Amino acid sequence: MEEQFSADFIESLENSSDAYDTEVMVTTWEGKYNWKLAYENLRDANHPRFVHTKTLAKSVKFNPTVNITQAHESLSELMNISSESLKNEMQNFSYGGPDAPIPDLKHFGWHDLVERWGSQDVYYNWLAYPNLHIASANGGYSFTLEHHIPISPERTDLEIYWFTSRKKQSYAFSSQTLLAQMHGSKIIVGEDIEIMEQVQATLHPGAPIPTQGAYESINRLVERWYTTLMDTQHSI
Ligand SMILES: [Fe+2]
Repeated sequence: MEEQFSADFIESLENSSDAYDTEVMVTTWEGKYNWKLAYENLRDANHPRFVHTKTLAKSVKFNPTVNITQAHESLSELMNISSESLKNEMQNFSYGGPDAPIPDLKHFGWHDLVERWGSQDVYYNWLAYPNLHIASANGGYSFTLEHHIPISPERTDLEIYWFTSRKKQSYAFSSQTLLAQMHGSKIIVGEDIEIMEQVQATLHPGAPIPTQGAYESINRLVERWYTTLMDTQHSI
């Protein structure tokens, strides 16, 4: 854990996960796409505007930003390919915390029945490379955990977990609260799955190389690291 993730990231996960309630709803969906499309999609801050136009993008203002240093670095070769350096490089791919403002956060009755984690009206995002995503789309009242499990080159199982922050007391409709949010995932994550399946379906050896924006430098850095990892001897 300490080699794969930065101390800041572990601290953020530790702090937020302390607030998780113990009642959890889980489902598994089967997708016809490669697991690597999922981490690329999640690190593309411009995708909600286009993929979630009528859903998530209406309430959360995701704002793609360009990190000039990273953007420049992503265009050059990875020079130091020692195991130590490759492990350090990997830590840059996982990060988390407040991601985007929610200007008009909607309140529901069950919000008063749980101990909210934090106090900001923001979308929290934790991206744990390679295949785990945790988010709170309501400023810390509940959380979703998405685990992408590679099955074959064109198949990925997606385990989706839902839980609120810790309940102040148990209440009769708590499972209904989780089910409603699971239904929300069916729509929003369903939009991601649809687009990833479409991308997967068009891939072939002669397919054109996609154009990535400067705001996607993390995806470029992952690609640089991953191809190095595949092409070299190392102890990772
Ligand atoms: Fe998405």
